[in-house]
Amino acid sequence: MSKSKSKNNKNNFDISLNLNVRGTTLSATLLINELSNKLINEGRKVYKLGLGQSPFPVPQMVVDELKANAHQKDYLPVKGLYELRKAVADYHSRRHDITRNAEDVLIGPGSKELMFLLQFVYYGDIIIPTPSWVSYAPQAKFIGRNVSWINTCEKNKCRLVPQDIDNLCKADPERPRIIILNYPSNPTGTTYSVGELKELAKVAKKYRIVLLSDEIYGELNFEGKHVSIAKFYPEGTIISSGLSKWCGAGGWRLGTFNFPKSLNWLLEAMASVASETFTSTSAPIQYAAVCAFRGEISIERYLWNSRRILKSLGLYIHKQLERAGIDTPKPEGGFYLFCNFKKHTARLKKRGITNSLELSQKLLEDTGVAVLPGSVFGRPQEELTARIAYVDFDGTKALAAVEMLPPHKFVDDSFLRTHCSHLLEGVAKLCDWTKK
Ligand SMILES: Cc1ncc(COP(=O)(O)O)c(C=O)c1O
Repeated sequence: MSKSKSKNNKNNFDISLNLNVRGTTLSATLLINELSNKLINEGRKVYKLGLGQSPFPVPQMVVDELKANAHQKDYLPVKGLYELRKAVADYHSRRHDITRNAEDVLIGPGSKELMFLLQFVYYGDIIIPTPSWVSYAPQAKFIGRNVSWINTCEKNKCRLVPQDIDNLCKADPERPRIIILNYPSNPTGTTYSVGELKELAKVAKKYRIVLLSDEIYGELNFEGKHVSIAKFYPEGTIISSGLSKWCGAGGWRLGTFNFPKSLNWLLEAMASVASETFTSTSAPIQYAAVCAFRGEISIERYLWNSRRILKSLGLYIHKQLERAGIDTPKPEGGFYLFCNFKKHTARLKKRGITNSLELSQKLLEDTGVAVLPGSVFGRPQEELTARIAYVDFDGTKALAAVEMLPPHKFVDDSFLRTHCSHLLEGVAKLCDWTKK
């Protein structure tokens, strides 16, 4: 249709999009989930190892609190319900030995939204490693920020090393920068030791980098021993957390940022933008979140049991992948594995697979196993990498079953074969398909 004709038709609009948004599509995670659902609707058996959603239910006590607060209908303060801000500050003091108070906390509808606000209000570059969680870089692009990717190597379990940050910053040491550190990591499941965190903190301090520590999987450290880098760089670290992963409540949409006093100006600027955009986070959810962050014995038990299952599962699948010649950093928390199929390059090439997107699409078509291509985490297109989210099992049943075991008993392979059989079948299919 010619342009003048289309203008004459009242139902047609010329596409006029913000330049920063043009050409972008739905987040890759959501796309793969939709494709998986399509195959399911066609009657195919699908193994959903793409979307990173907690398999576990929200703890009953938190659900009860939500029910009891369903009547809460008033807009809450833009920075969040004071009681919740206090509970979050106390949680970080208790868990991470970091003294901050209620005034230092900002509540938002998911930590993702808070990250967007932070990138929006801060004027400077964003530093992230490859591989990194899928949304950091697109958010920076929407806002028009410069992204500096730092390449990581497998030998160092795909993690940041202080020397690389130093190399990046020394040419222009005064440049304002945010570095996003995420551990346990999505997509690799790896974390940092105390010594490594201290070294990273040192270099961040040297260049006065704002450090956004994305600790959303912190409570899912397999040993329950997550340490926040804020301990070693308190004045420059914002801790990001929320209910989505450790509390199984991704769809509730509640995220938290915890600021040092020295970065209060960022909190205030974010609150100002929030007041003109989302106004405040859902009231009933905030009331319910108070008890989740206060924590008590039933929450501790829930976390203990969640970790037991995820640790055994992560290590079991890791072993299967390594046996199949798929290189994967050993997981230490969360529910992800980052696989490199490079040892199978020649074999995959013969089947027409030469990049990570082709790899994940062909795998899904051939076997019904959905994974995310490494390229969406910032890895080079031609690298044969993919992320597995090992969450496709009934977390409610698995939690109920693990509670019947003695608390210190290792969750063994036979437990996994009984309660995560579908997921393990998917992993076996992936391994067989690779070796074909
Ligand atoms: C590493 C990481 N950070 C942040 C988020 C965002 O979590 P939410 O917005 O649900 O708090 C996710 C969700 O997948 C994530 O994997």
